[in-house]
Amino acid sequence: MATLLCVTLTAAYFLIDVRPRHSGGTWMGYSLGALGAALIVWLALLGVRKRAVTAGHYSLKAWVSAHVYLGLSLTVIATLHTGFQFGMNVHTLAYVLMMLVIVSGLFGVWAYASLPNLLSANRGETTRRQMLDALATLDGQLHEAAQPLDRDMAAIVRLSLEKTDIAGGYWQRVFGLYGGCANDRAIERLARARQGARGPEAETLAQIDALLRKKAEALAFARRQVRITALLEGWTFVHVPMTFALLAALTAHIVSVFFYW
Ligand code: HEM
Ligand code: HEM
Repeated sequence: MATLLCVTLTAAYFLIDVRPRHSGGTWMGYSLGALGAALIVWLALLGVRKRAVTAGHYSLKAWVSAHVYLGLSLTVIATLHTGFQFGMNVHTLAYVLMMLVIVSGLFGVWAYASLPNLLSANRGETTRRQMLDALATLDGQLHEAAQPLDRDMAAIVRLSLEKTDIAGGYWQRVFGLYGGCANDRAIERLARARQGARGPEAETLAQIDALLRKKAEALAFARRQVRITALLEGWTFVHVPMTFALLAALTAHIVSVFFYW
C-alpha cells in the first residue's frame, strides 16, 4: 500500500500542472502536507499503542509493519509537498528532523533483525546471571589468592578488584573503549613485579596472573554482550526524542504558514 501510495502521488505530481509551480502552498501542496502531517501523528502514536495491551483486531506486529512502510513513504510524500524547495527555515528544519527519525528507524529495523542473533551466538548457553557470577567467582578467587601477599603486591590485585569497570558509559560500550581497563593495568604491573619474585611468592603471583588473565577473557566476553545490547537500544535515543522535536517543528511550520497566509 505504501508503494502504491508513493507511485500514485509521484505520478500525480508530474502529471498535474500546478501554477505557478509545485510548492507547499498550492492545493496539491496543502493536500500532501496534510497527509504527511496526519501520517507523522499516526506514526508517533506507536509509542502509545506499544504500551497498550489490547485484544483488538490489529496486532502490534501489524502496527509496526505498517509503521515501517508508511514511515518510509513519508520521504516521498513530504518531498513532493515541498516542491523540492528547501531553505534555512523552520519548514526545512521539520523536514530534516523527519529524515533523522526515518534514518534512525531504518537502523532500528536492521538492529532488530540482526543483533538478537549475534547476541545469542556470542552468549551460547550462558545467561547474563551466569556471566556476572563467573566474574564474581574469579574476583573471590583473586581475593583469596592475594592473602599471603605484602601491601604493595596486594595493591595490584586490589586495582583489578576495585577499579574494573565491566560496562561503562554508552559510547564506551558501543566502541569498546576499555584502553585503561584496571584489570589490564593489573596484569602489566604484575608482570613487572614477577621478575624479581622467588620461591612461594613467585608461585602465588603466577596463580594470580592466571586468574587475572581468565578475568580478562570473561570481561571481553561480557563486554561483547554489552556492546550488542547498547547497539540494540541506541537508535531509539535518536528516534524517540527526534519524534518530539519533529512534532514541535511541524507545529511551528503549520502555524507559521497560516500566520503569513
Ligand atoms: C498540515 C500539514 C502542512 C501544511 C498545511 C503545510 C503547509 C505548507 C505551505 C503553505 C508551504 C509553502 C510555504 C511557502 O511557500 O512559503 C510549505 C512548505 C514546506 N513544507 Fe509544509 N505543510 C504541512 C506539512 C509539512 C510536513 C509534514 C513537512 C515535512 C516534515 C513539511 C515541510 C515543508 C517544507 C520543507 C517546505 C518548503 C519550505 C521552503 O519553501 O523553503 N510540511 N508547507
Ligand atoms: C516520521 C516518521 C516516524 C515517526 C514520527 C516515528 C515514531 C516512532 C515512535 C514514537 C515509536 C515508539 C518508540 C517507543 O515508544 O519505544 C517508534 C518505534 C519504532 N519505529 Fe518509528 N517513526 C517514524 C518512522 C519510522 C521508520 C521509517 C522506520 C523504519 C524504517 C521506523 C521504525 C521503528 C521501529 C522498528 C520501532 C520500534 C517498534 C517496537 O519497539 O516494536 N520508524 N517510531
